[in-house]
Amino acid sequence: MTNDPSRLLIVASNRGPVSYGQAADGSLTARRGGGGMVSGLMSGLGAVAADGGGLWLCAALSEADREAARHPELAAVGPGEVPVRMLDIPAGVFDKAYNGIANSVLWFVHHMLFDTPNQPHFDAAFRADWTAYVAYNEAFADALAQECGQGTRVLIQDYHLSLAPRLLRDRHPAARIAHFEHTPWAPPEYYQMLPDDVAIAVLDGMLGADHVGFLAARWADAFLDCCERVLGAQVTRTRAGAGRVAYRDRVTAVAVHPLGVDAAELRARGREADVRAHARLLAELAGGRQLIVRVDRTELSKNMVRGLAAYRELLRTRPEWRGRVTHLAFAYPSRSALPEYQAYTARVHELAAEISAEFRTPAWEPLILDLKDDYPRSLAACGIADVLLVNPIRDGMNLVAEEGPILSERGCALVLSREAGAAALVGEAALLVNPYDVSATADALHAGLAMQAAERQRRSAAIASAATARAPRRWLAEQVEALG
Ligand code: F6P
Repeated sequence: MTNDPSRLLIVASNRGPVSYGQAADGSLTARRGGGGMVSGLMSGLGAVAADGGGLWLCAALSEADREAARHPELAAVGPGEVPVRMLDIPAGVFDKAYNGIANSVLWFVHHMLFDTPNQPHFDAAFRADWTAYVAYNEAFADALAQECGQGTRVLIQDYHLSLAPRLLRDRHPAARIAHFEHTPWAPPEYYQMLPDDVAIAVLDGMLGADHVGFLAARWADAFLDCCERVLGAQVTRTRAGAGRVAYRDRVTAVAVHPLGVDAAELRARGREADVRAHARLLAELAGGRQLIVRVDRTELSKNMVRGLAAYRELLRTRPEWRGRVTHLAFAYPSRSALPEYQAYTARVHELAAEISAEFRTPAWEPLILDLKDDYPRSLAACGIADVLLVNPIRDGMNLVAEEGPILSERGCALVLSREAGAAALVGEAALLVNPYDVSATADALHAGLAMQAAERQRRSAAIASAATARAPRRWLAEQVEALG
């Protein structure tokens, strides 16, 4: 590690590598942050920042995090001993920025999730949330400007921090800034649902960066289209998913960096005792039946309701599978403060209960739905799956689609939504489906269950090698290299 600021690498993201909980006696306990963005950085940052040193700047997400942020002696250390700095943003500002704008507006726009007869409503409440979102981005830009020296490279992550690249550029013109978007990007017709000033501010904010990255070519192309249509920027396309945007006084490069998985690291975790113990329990539960597995967050875009409906249709239309298959549907709770997520989770429980009531027998439980945060159990379920169901409506990438085949002991069939960024990476090795088409998803589940073991092995191995070729270290190194 050197003290040369131009070799320093700073990552900024909303969620960091650890978050804290507070025990009854007031003590703080640290736990690993979840999700694809954190996983990619956890696995890549140590190696990439090894020479010049690194820093991970993230937001305090809860009261326990804020408490920890006030005690520098508790400062967490990220991958490869990279120090972590948590920003203590006032709870009211954080809540409006995170729940009000990032999760309820930008996430919905990027995933095209609005139920348009009712949402969105861009009213006075939205304006108050937007003011908080600007303040939240300014807090990051201030902290980043403090940490940056001459030529420091800053990697800003995701839709929570769309404005931060421009705000940092204003404060520190010499910084080398990349923005990486882990979500899909909507075409201009949908994106322009945002109020005009907000639609412009988000694009302009991101274009404060030297380099803007996406997980799949279609998201990058949609972003370029928005820059052209909404900003009137001059866009040069070099190939699918890549180009340059000239806007205001600068040119920003746009490119695709698909995110894969470090297979050795993941398999090693999969061999640990806690995962093995879960695998034994789940195999006992299955009692020799085939397993259809899904592992998600309780997230609207993950499309759990249609996934369950497809399983029901499979059992209705192909009775030969009754008693011969069990569906493990696991998801860890997410964004439960939002009413849309509460209603959706209730619908998932309702449908699961209907399926059990329709098909269960004294000797067979067709579906085990469990919504809790249990990472070792998720790894175990992927390891013993016969069919893995990943059917999001839209998804930036979806790492479960890559991790499942890597963890799979005997090879699994992957039923994958063609609307996930991962579909471009794994291609025909998966059984690709239109996520809205419940019957086609039921057919694909059938094809996966009926597939010969050797064929499952072959497809799983192809997916694992495509994912491994894009390991997080490479994903991150490419972005750093793009900054020169
Ligand atoms: O952009 C995707 C992402 O950052 C993923 O990494 C993760 O699955 C999700 O969003 C995290 O959401 P949250 O931090 O709100 O739980």
